[in-house]
Amino acid sequence: MKQRKILVTQALPYANGGIHLGHMMEAIQTDIWVRLQKMRGHDCVFVCADDAHGTAIMLSAKKQGITPEQLIDAVNKQHQRDYADFLINFDNFHSTHSEENRQLSESIYKALDANGHINRRRIKQLFDPEKNLFLADRYITGSCPKCKAEGQYGDNCEACGSTYSPAELINPRSSISGATPIEKESEHFFFALPVFRDMLKDWTRSGTLQDAVANKLSEWLDDELQEWDISRDAPYFGFEIPGEEGKYFYVWLDAPIGYMASFKNLCDRSDYNFDEYWNPGQDTELYHFIGKDIINFHTLFWPAMLTSAGYRTPTAVFAHGFLTVDGTKMSKSRGTFINARTYLDHLNPEYLRYFLAAKLSNGIDDLDLNLEDFAQRVNSDLVGKVVNIASRCAGFIDKGFEGFLAEELDNTRLLTEIQSAKDEITKHFEQREYSKAIRMIMALADKANQYINDKQPWVIAKTDTQSAELQAICSSGINAFRLLICYLKPVLPAMAEQAEQFLAIEPLRWDDSDNLLRAHKINKFKPLMTRVESDKVQAMVNATQEEYLEQQQASAALKSKATDDSRCVAPEIDFEDFAKVDLRVAKIISAEQVEGAEKLLKLGLSLGEDELGNALTRTVFSGIKSAYQPEDLVGMLTVVVANLKPRKMKFGLSEGMILAAGPGGKDIWLLEPHRGAEAGMRIT
Ligand code: 2FM
Ligand code: ZN
Repeated sequence: MKQRKILVTQALPYANGGIHLGHMMEAIQTDIWVRLQKMRGHDCVFVCADDAHGTAIMLSAKKQGITPEQLIDAVNKQHQRDYADFLINFDNFHSTHSEENRQLSESIYKALDANGHINRRRIKQLFDPEKNLFLADRYITGSCPKCKAEGQYGDNCEACGSTYSPAELINPRSSISGATPIEKESEHFFFALPVFRDMLKDWTRSGTLQDAVANKLSEWLDDELQEWDISRDAPYFGFEIPGEEGKYFYVWLDAPIGYMASFKNLCDRSDYNFDEYWNPGQDTELYHFIGKDIINFHTLFWPAMLTSAGYRTPTAVFAHGFLTVDGTKMSKSRGTFINARTYLDHLNPEYLRYFLAAKLSNGIDDLDLNLEDFAQRVNSDLVGKVVNIASRCAGFIDKGFEGFLAEELDNTRLLTEIQSAKDEITKHFEQREYSKAIRMIMALADKANQYINDKQPWVIAKTDTQSAELQAICSSGINAFRLLICYLKPVLPAMAEQAEQFLAIEPLRWDDSDNLLRAHKINKFKPLMTRVESDKVQAMVNATQEEYLEQQQASAALKSKATDDSRCVAPEIDFEDFAKVDLRVAKIISAEQVEGAEKLLKLGLSLGEDELGNALTRTVFSGIKSAYQPEDLVGMLTVVVANLKPRKMKFGLSEGMILAAGPGGKDIWLLEPHRGAEAGMRIT
């Protein structure tokens, strides 16, 4: 077999946030594919990097009072840890804020410019006169010009669905400073995308794209193509455009070049040859795994830029759908916006790897992580079927035969059947039809279990623990297990490694499924995987909700702490805005622990009485457990936002928010009962 040379990338995660299970789905999909190729003996390299530029990162660093470099360094480490703990096996993980990327971005830009594919023209944009920066649409809020709904972001209304230019918003505000934006003109640089229409039409039809993606693309290509704005004005965190002071490359220009830069960084300390993978006409393959939301960047701008600059185009771009949790978009308040680290705190990464593999296809439909289905699927397939085969046979081999498998196997028909499924399983994995591969593997596991049921080795062992028949049956079972583990290894690398230790064999390669173990000594069996426990799944959901609440409290605290301009994160509000907040003194009348919550207490509050003399109470969940014993809180006073919209949380309905001061941990202060302060008093 000819050894293929393959370069694979996944989308580069933004450096201003953590890795969540949506990111992880893509990483797992890509990693399984790469591991398969490596196991087959191909030279497959998997590179990634953090996508470290842009306004969001600049603002996020400012908000935290650190430099963007400090922010992206810290995030890079976290990202690498999260990926590594999910067993994502990158050959290199770099950053787009790197010297390699600066050089490549500059040289590609210069080539585009020299080829006449960069046009300069002046455009008008909204500008924040307080912060002195141009505002991307998502940083502008105001009322919808059509239906007048307040608080709409950017260029479309969530209430009535109409689209408009952000300049048309009624009473527009910069969400960064709260200032009213002004229109300002500046020079921008545009990439001449329309020049590449024919090239893109050919490329689209050359089998590089999934049907759904190719169809979408041909719609775009039939429409009028727009030139692409690749510059941003200072202040911006990114690379300055050579020779153009105060102008920066738009983050999406240098992001995909980050694929090249990460590979270049690897080449500089290995035998890989950059040109062999990026020059046209070479015998190497290049694949990008991406989410369906960034198809235009990867199938229009990117191949066009590569072509203009004299590089090859991707062999294929593989898009996938979004991850939903329990049937809906991931939501922080519902506890389903699950961070990779939160998952890892409670559950084994291979559960998720397996579950996703069992559901992934090569289409762009969304994939649902139904948490009940997740536990059930992993338990029934991995624990109940695969591991079970080994655990039912291993003890007899150990006890009766000093760990030796038989020379003569009992059921070679079953083993041959499993072996001959290899080509089809390979094809399904190669085509990213993982669910089909898993279905075949599990059907074979069912057959192996059925065989053991039929032969009942435990009955034979009752009369003769050293019977040759017993050894032959159990050795067949162990061989079936080994073959299935070999097929599952791209999905379950850690479990496969444990199985290799148990079987006392070298790391399995794909073609090892062509042979069998005979007269071979194996080790004592240890359980390879434990069941998914539903209370751990619940604990993960609870922790996610708590993180959300904490985050909200932290950002509220930061806003109230913001005094000097450099730390000011909350936009200035009018008196009318402030007057909308109903602040009242509340007396804590009950306080209790919340089962499954690490930081929350459930507080019962008295807000005095309404006009008719009825007691006014509220139930509020608050993250102050670190500072108080529930019993000490009863009788204390606090200030509550009484008209906060109630929020449904996993633990119950939270009907307000209490105000406390302090840095956190043990130091969170409420009001001490004070002369004359009484529940229900309004704060004026
Ligand atoms: O959408 C995103 O999360 C981007 N950070 C992906 C970039 S992929 C590549 F082009 F760098
Ligand atoms: Zn509207």
